[in-house]
Amino acid sequence: MAVREEPSQSIGTCAAIFNSAIAAAAISAASELGVIDEIEQSGHLDISAFVDDRSLHGESIRAMLVALASFEIVELDDAREKVQPGPGFAEVHRLQGFFYWLVRGYGHLLTNLPDSTRNAARSGDFYHRDVRAVSLASAQMSAVSVDPLFLSIIEPLTFTATADLGCGSARRLIQMIADRPAVRGVGVDIAPAALAVARESVAAAGLTGSIGLVEASVTDLTPRPEFADVELVTCFFLGHDFWPRARCVNALRGVRQAFPHVEHFLLCDTYRSSTVPSAADQIFTLGFELTHAVMGQYLPSLAEWRDVFEESGWSSAGEHPVEVPPSTAIFHLRPR
Ligand SMILES: C[S@@+](CC[C@H](N)C(=O)[O-])C[C@H]1O[C@@H](n2cnc3c(N)ncnc32)[C@H](O)[C@@H]1O
Repeated sequence: MAVREEPSQSIGTCAAIFNSAIAAAAISAASELGVIDEIEQSGHLDISAFVDDRSLHGESIRAMLVALASFEIVELDDAREKVQPGPGFAEVHRLQGFFYWLVRGYGHLLTNLPDSTRNAARSGDFYHRDVRAVSLASAQMSAVSVDPLFLSIIEPLTFTATADLGCGSARRLIQMIADRPAVRGVGVDIAPAALAVARESVAAAGLTGSIGLVEASVTDLTPRPEFADVELVTCFFLGHDFWPRARCVNALRGVRQAFPHVEHFLLCDTYRSSTVPSAADQIFTLGFELTHAVMGQYLPSLAEWRDVFEESGWSSAGEHPVEVPPSTAIFHLRPR
């Protein structure tokens, strides 16, 4: 195994923060380039063969893997040629979407943080995020804890048509419909880039005939023929965009009106944390709250969410806390 340096205590905290920024970028890139999945599937990686196969720059990949080895995510041989999973690999494989969300999705916004903090600069397109990366990462992040919980909630429900609001990559619709061939689905998203990912995913799953895609804003929905029979509406990781409160009440009422036969509405979102999140044992919250603050997006607390449903025409049929990401819940709503 390649030799690791002994740690020095003198600049420990800053070194850990600096190096974790490098490792986060390396995990995000290794995720997109298929390095992490290759190690997971094959149990090892031969760097020369991998880069030759994919026309990649070998020294860049090698340096990324050194960063991962520094955090014991992988182990490298002395020649820096063969890679094995390290003690931290399984966790990084499971949580890779969070790094992709942060670095690929919001890297530009974070780099330009001082600019977007100056009030004079905060107009027009003052920040940029990679919507395609956010949609893909969102699907990967959901797979960790949200999807199993979501699937257990819908298991006992009967429905013949479903709609996913802010569908992103359409992964949720594909999951639901792949197991229920008689069910029809419609995905709604405002972003053409997200809908392009959704179209590719739906076609790859062979479900083009069962899943329709609509470009529209969820805060401005009107009834459409595709919505008429929908009994189950889902909306994951978008609800905070409905706020402030009066706008959210309108948006939730709009959902009720656009889907006249809705029986269940599953709304899942991360809410504002009530304490300073621990840097050591939580993932996502700090990044979620910082990026949304910069974008000028209000984040409701759990209490604010609970307080808005009745007035918006919905009753709570249950609230399901999510383990990862923290401060996240699936609200099961039914029309009043
Ligand atoms: C964080 S992603 C979540 C994607 C997906 N729901 C999931 O759970 O993986 C948020 C999605 O909502 C979409 N979106 C944002 N604002 C929207 C709006 N007003 N109407 C419809 N879609 C919106 C974005 O384009 C993006 O695809």
